[in-house]
Amino acid sequence: MPLHIRLYTKFVFLLLLATLVFGLFSSWAYLYPEVFNKYLPFYQLRPMHTSAALFFIISAATLCIIIFHKNTIGRDATTGIFEKTFITTWVATILVIFIYYSFKKFGGREYWEFPAWLALPLLLSWVLLMIGYYKGWLKCADKKPLYIWMWSTGILFFFITFIEQNLWQISWFRQSFLRELTVQWKANGSMVGAWNQMIYGSSLFLMVMISGDKTIALNKKAFFFYFLGLTNLMFNWGHHIYNLPAHGAIRHISYIISMTEWLIFISIIQSFKNKLEEARKLRHLLPYKFLVASEFWVFANLTLALFMSIPAVNRYTHGTHITVAHAMGTTIGINTMILLGVLGYALDIDKKINTGRKLFTRSYNLAQASLLIFWLSLILAGIIKGYRSVTLNINSFQQMMEPVNNVLKLFAVAGAGVAIGLGIIVVQYWQSMSDSNSNVKDVK
Ligand code: HEM
Repeated sequence: MPLHIRLYTKFVFLLLLATLVFGLFSSWAYLYPEVFNKYLPFYQLRPMHTSAALFFIISAATLCIIIFHKNTIGRDATTGIFEKTFITTWVATILVIFIYYSFKKFGGREYWEFPAWLALPLLLSWVLLMIGYYKGWLKCADKKPLYIWMWSTGILFFFITFIEQNLWQISWFRQSFLRELTVQWKANGSMVGAWNQMIYGSSLFLMVMISGDKTIALNKKAFFFYFLGLTNLMFNWGHHIYNLPAHGAIRHISYIISMTEWLIFISIIQSFKNKLEEARKLRHLLPYKFLVASEFWVFANLTLALFMSIPAVNRYTHGTHITVAHAMGTTIGINTMILLGVLGYALDIDKKINTGRKLFTRSYNLAQASLLIFWLSLILAGIIKGYRSVTLNINSFQQMMEPVNNVLKLFAVAGAGVAIGLGIIVVQYWQSMSDSNSNVKDVK
């Protein structure tokens, strides 16, 4: 693995560790402001946590694509000059963003709360990635498997939605609060669709590699699902603007469409599991475990989303911790699990973690069990808050939050379990990099 790819991989792991540490501190800073307000207040920790999470997801998605480019398109992107420059400028900009955050200098809009000018180097970096990627894509005349279409779509749509997300910088969009908010929420919703294309593409690639069955990514059903996924990317943002004045039809259509995206994933992963030979599964057991975990979290979040979208239920859940459960349930349970599986495969983790296997399994189990409690406690906190504010009509915020805060203590403890479990796995991945063997170039 070339040095810059090795360093970028370590940077991705650092982002995940930062997400876990900032997340943990955020939960404590929320519960005990008197201790944290002086040095690390919640208003500083929250953007540090959410930005680290978003940058981890997006950077890891690009890393997987760059690493597996040669195996899929034939061009070695790990030595490409465009990719090299992308990595340098992308990483440098993220570091500058965190320096600004550490001085409590904020700007931008939700999840991207850094000074607005920093969006420009991020965008230019992305253009470099696109040039490198599409150069290989155009030269490749072979029939392209579905994961390549998904990567190509995700990269293009991230570019489009990132520009959309920054439209507020043009004064016309700021003239009307509603206009600005609608575009913001819409862009954030579509951006999730864009990175899901990149990540689901990589999960499909992983399924092909583990099973050795190329047809999973070439058959008609897979391509039908691709178009369904594309429709999702373009239209499912409607569920992000439920609370803005919009025509009812937009809500209903987007709701139905957003549910289909997860059904696609469940269907693909189940047909992969049904056909998988035991020997192949055992050869890549650790990445396989992450795929199985992501499948469980797709089911769980799909169920939650179905409930959340019933208007009578939404009346209680809106603006409560249930929304946070939905956001973290999907970014940790689905995105992070898939990315850890794919990166584990890239590092050939099954061969490397020998003595540490028991520790890995324990950490994995701890992370999954804690995540379940973490997620359920957020849902419970949301139900109690919704009940007290809507049914009991309690106006005093402090009084309304009293029992909610007790549940949030459970959330913070479970969060520590998630952080420890995933943290240990990341450290094991990191250590495995000192071994020079990897699946990066020799995948057949
Ligand atoms: C891979 C790990 C993680 C990812 C990807 C992640 C992602 C996110 C995201 C996307 C949000 C924004 C939610 C929203 O706006 O509704 C968020 C908020 C938050 N996260 Fe995490 N998170 C992770 C781990 C953790 C951990 C281990 C904790 C520890 C308890 C934690 C605590 C929090 C807190 C306190 C908030 C703010 C909630 C609020 O403002 O009400 N996170 N996280």
